[in-house]
Amino acid sequence: MDELALSVRNLSTVYDTGGSVVHAVRDVSFDLRRTERLGVVGESGSGKSALALSILGLIEPPGRVVEGEIVLGGRDISKLSDRQLGAVRGKEIALVLQDPSSALDPVKTIGSQIVEALTVHEPDLRRAAVRRRAAELLREVDISQAERRLDDYPHQYSGGMRQRVAIAIAIANNPRVLIADEPTTALDVTTQAQVLALLDRLVDEHRTAVILITHNLGIVSDFCDSVAVMYAGRFVETSGVDHIFVAPTHPYSEALLKCVPNPERLAEGPLPAISGFPPDLSQLPSGCSFAPRCPVGRDLPQCHEQAPVPHRVSGPAGEASVECHFAEQRIREVAV
Ligand SMILES: Nc1ncnc2c1ncn2[C@@H]1O[C@H](COP(=O)(O)OP(=O)(O)OP(=O)(O)O)[C@@H](O)[C@H]1O
Ligand code: SF4
Ligand SMILES: [Mg+2]
Repeated sequence: MDELALSVRNLSTVYDTGGSVVHAVRDVSFDLRRTERLGVVGESGSGKSALALSILGLIEPPGRVVEGEIVLGGRDISKLSDRQLGAVRGKEIALVLQDPSSALDPVKTIGSQIVEALTVHEPDLRRAAVRRRAAELLREVDISQAERRLDDYPHQYSGGMRQRVAIAIAIANNPRVLIADEPTTALDVTTQAQVLALLDRLVDEHRTAVILITHNLGIVSDFCDSVAVMYAGRFVETSGVDHIFVAPTHPYSEALLKCVPNPERLAEGPLPAISGFPPDLSQLPSGCSFAPRCPVGRDLPQCHEQAPVPHRVSGPAGEASVECHFAEQRIREVAV
């Protein structure tokens, strides 16, 4: 079994918007091993980006991480100062966002931005060596004529190429963990596939662990080996990827999967819509946050009064941790 790359314990993040407190991430815990590709799925507003930013120490006011331990390569980074965190970010853990423009400065050449990413953590590198490494990185993300294209500006690259450059910058220092927040959503299907193939290679060649946040279950099925279904700031079901497609046990996971009747259509697009709306994260119900929409528990007092705890279950396609009062009963039903 691969060593642990990241261990998150009891992570909670709020946005204090004056008058109301939005509980964006609620007591999330998980482990990520080297080379693991964890897919995080959930409807819009479920806390996926807040989770990513919290792990990277990038939550800004009015947001605040209120609790939690984030152990990266054996070291708790949650208590580090901004300056100490700056030395870790980009070097040991990196982020790729949906919009590559946010990672690239339009008035600086691609080359100078990669060089910056390399030298910020290793200021003593010699100029020629850094430029060589920058070109190597561009080649690594499949940009042809890399030497020459180092001197281009971001607007001279296509959207897909810019995203690959953002990935090159993110991997410049060979981080242990790469968090990609919907890295392919803005790209056409062919470019999406190229970016995923690139991430795939990264995992194999550098033993990077990847957290891939996506709305696309097809990407989870193709790329990930584990999955966390996020609802109202919590991981309501976590498992190996096979389990979630064979025996989704949390009623929310089942509803997500049920909306895609034909598995071959998984790759076609974003997460399907489920009837009803996610709860207001500043006014969470006291019981299960899915209860108002849940076909199983909607009318059950227990579900409205008592918040479920995670249950470890074993099904036909592996184990899962499921936050539902009826997890054991439900896994028995799907297993027959
Ligand atoms: N800067 C902010 N100020 C106030 N509330 C915020 C802020 N950023 C996020 N939130 C709230 O935190 C909750 C989680 O948001 P988050 O962006 O993590 O969702 P998400 O799962 O990434 O959604 P999407 O799929 O649309 O990207 C939401 O209720 C959102 O409104
Ligand atoms: S605890 Fe109740 S409301 Fe929540 S998911 Fe399970 S059955 Fe549905
Ligand atoms: Mg988001």
